[in-house]
Amino acid sequence: MASHINYTCTLLTILLIISIPSEAQLSSKFYDSTCPSALTTIRTAIRTAISRERRMAASLIRLHFHDCFVRGCDASILLNDSSTITSEKNALPNLNSVRGYEVIDNAKSQVEKICPGVVSCADILAVAARDASFYVGGPSWTVKLGRRDSKTASLSSANSQLPGFGDSLNTLISLFKAKGLSARDMVALSGSHTIGQAQCFTFRTRIYNNASDINAGFATTRRRKCPASGGNANLAPLDLVTPNSFDNNYFKNLIQKKGLLASDQVLFSGGSTDSIVDEYSKNPTKFKSDFAAAMIKMGDISPLTGSKGQIRKLCYAVN
Ligand code: HEM
Ligand SMILES: *[C@@H]1O[C@H](CO)[C@@H](O)[C@H](O)[C@H]1NC(C)=O
Ligand SMILES: *[C@@H]1O[C@H](CO)[C@@H](O)[C@H](O)[C@H]1NC(C)=O
Repeated sequence: MASHINYTCTLLTILLIISIPSEAQLSSKFYDSTCPSALTTIRTAIRTAISRERRMAASLIRLHFHDCFVRGCDASILLNDSSTITSEKNALPNLNSVRGYEVIDNAKSQVEKICPGVVSCADILAVAARDASFYVGGPSWTVKLGRRDSKTASLSSANSQLPGFGDSLNTLISLFKAKGLSARDMVALSGSHTIGQAQCFTFRTRIYNNASDINAGFATTRRRKCPASGGNANLAPLDLVTPNSFDNNYFKNLIQKKGLLASDQVLFSGGSTDSIVDEYSKNPTKFKSDFAAAMIKMGDISPLTGSKGQIRKLCYAVN
């Protein structure tokens, strides 16, 4: 009898152990023994690219965001069209807009030279975003590693799950909430619009509609290089004051009704996020630490770990 109970207990224990999901965790030390030079190699490649073109810092931060919001941070955005892949690069929010693919492809080839088949493209994207932020005056943070690369992509998810420049505050809040990010995270992350550029077609409606939520002088200035029709790809800085440095001017602009995109200005338009914008406009240190924390949280969205996915040899194609 006693041995029967013992047997049952052992069986239950085994079943319990088997049924506990082995949720592998990301770790900043993931490559410490398998590729100790990975992070310095990535950093060199990223710094070289940004020193050639400062805007690349912005493009790389955005690339990580557009990766993480679609099927998680799995480098799905980097896959090109092929017989098995319908590339996310052709999704509306990405096409002729997201840039920096070749910078990541190059960083990957540098890393492959020292440790072939070890470092994922998804991790390179996360490290590149951190290095880019720091290089242009933004915060740094410890990047968690161990993401693996997807074998698939989703054009339709890229079209439906990434926010758009005309979205309402409620829509923005729910798109971020769907990824486990709070309204506060969303406001902090939008602060990366303190660097980089946007094309005329993304802010035309806003600068021509004479609404009460835009500074009239700012609208006039922006109209000069963004005609009412044509010039769709003409660029304007997302932060009119310091487009090449990562600071909290973005939030000061919003308070003056000088947000470039409608989706920027809705963060300060009498709604629930006004107080957060106000806080970040006055406290750059708090903005930077919240931004870093939110980037870590964003980098944690549904990673492929353990034996899921693969470590691609080339970021633009599955093995
Ligand atoms: C809140 C919702 C957001 C919307 C609606 C939005 C939309 C946009 C749009 C329309 C552009 C200009 C694209 C173009 O003209 O080609 C842009 C640029 C940019 N976005 Fe966002 N964005 C959002 C949030 C974010 C987040 C969360 C990040 C990063 C964490 C980010 C980082 C950037 C950067 C850095 C640029 C400049 C890119 C460059 O110059 O290449 N954005 N965004
Ligand atoms: C992958 O796609 C990008 C963007 O569409 C293109 O620029 C690049 O040349 C492609 N790479 C390869 C190796 O086909
Ligand atoms: C906005 O104001 C300008 C100048 O006053 C005017 O020419 C234009 O028609 C107005 N646009 C709209 C959409 O009301």
